[in-house]
Amino acid sequence: MKGIILAGGSGTRLYPLTLVSSKQLLPVYDKPLIYYPLTTLISAGIKDILVISTPQDTPRIESLLGDGRNYGVKLQYLAQPAPEGIAQAFILGQSFIGDDEVALILGDNLFYGGGLRSQLKEAAKEAREGKATFFAYFVKDPERFGTIAIDEQGQLSGIREKDPHPSTSYAVTGLYFYPSGVSAKAKGLKKSPRGEYEISDLNNLYIEKKQAVVRVLGRGYTWLDCGTPDSLKEAADFVHSVQSHEGLYIGCPEEAAYREGYIGKDILIERAEALSHCAYGRYLKALTEATYLQEGRIV
Ligand code: TTP
Repeated sequence: MKGIILAGGSGTRLYPLTLVSSKQLLPVYDKPLIYYPLTTLISAGIKDILVISTPQDTPRIESLLGDGRNYGVKLQYLAQPAPEGIAQAFILGQSFIGDDEVALILGDNLFYGGGLRSQLKEAAKEAREGKATFFAYFVKDPERFGTIAIDEQGQLSGIREKDPHPSTSYAVTGLYFYPSGVSAKAKGLKKSPRGEYEISDLNNLYIEKKQAVVRVLGRGYTWLDCGTPDSLKEAADFVHSVQSHEGLYIGCPEEAAYREGYIGKDILIERAEALSHCAYGRYLKALTEATYLQEGRIV
């Protein structure tokens, strides 16, 4: 299974913060925003990842993340000449994806919650079995989002964009898993009136064919996008509060890679030493020394 982080866009809602810097390189408390979606893909068990960003930001993101060696994954980079929609990732990334299944995560989306790893791995399994998976999250203002629509029988009937009277309050988040063949489907899409290849149009093709599963991230999960000054601040506050309370980091790709067995203690120690002047480096050092138990019963 392949993974794509879509980290371009214009970031106009964050101006002037994003006039010269990519949204994905802005800080969310103590680390760049793109660390969070990268950690999510690593936790899904994905080792082959393409980062797509703007022509100006792609080299900067590459100098931050490198070839992936520090995280035990292979990272490649590609520029999106213009932000022509989320589904364009599959057209641009066609040769990278090949005949594989692929997960796409938006570069400004933060997911957190116990049990997420197993939900992600289930979605990857479903993709291998020919089904797409979308993750839904309860929101107070569903009319601002693409939402899950259900029919009278309670069956999934589609995704509606900014529906003024949505049938559910579940927004579709920026994390999608697809079976083999998604690029061919994306190439058949027409641009919307706003000039974009719409991800909801693509997702509706899977729903119409009954090849889609919606996984609800319920209580105990957090989903944040960082597209506005308020949501960026909310994300930073959330990360700060969890990290200082739990003592465990959110969005630490080295930790995810270590727990997945992608990197050994040697690389973790090397990283900890390179970053020894900051709390992040000290956290990595502590990881090399601690014993972590799996969640669940100890009998
Ligand atoms: P959006 O937040 O929808 O768009 P944006 O980042 O351009 O911001 P704004 O609306 O403030 O102008 O994008 C969601 C994510 O998807 C974000 O991480 C950027 C990424 N994206 C691309 O990389 N390419 C695209 O063509 C689009 C539409 C989004």
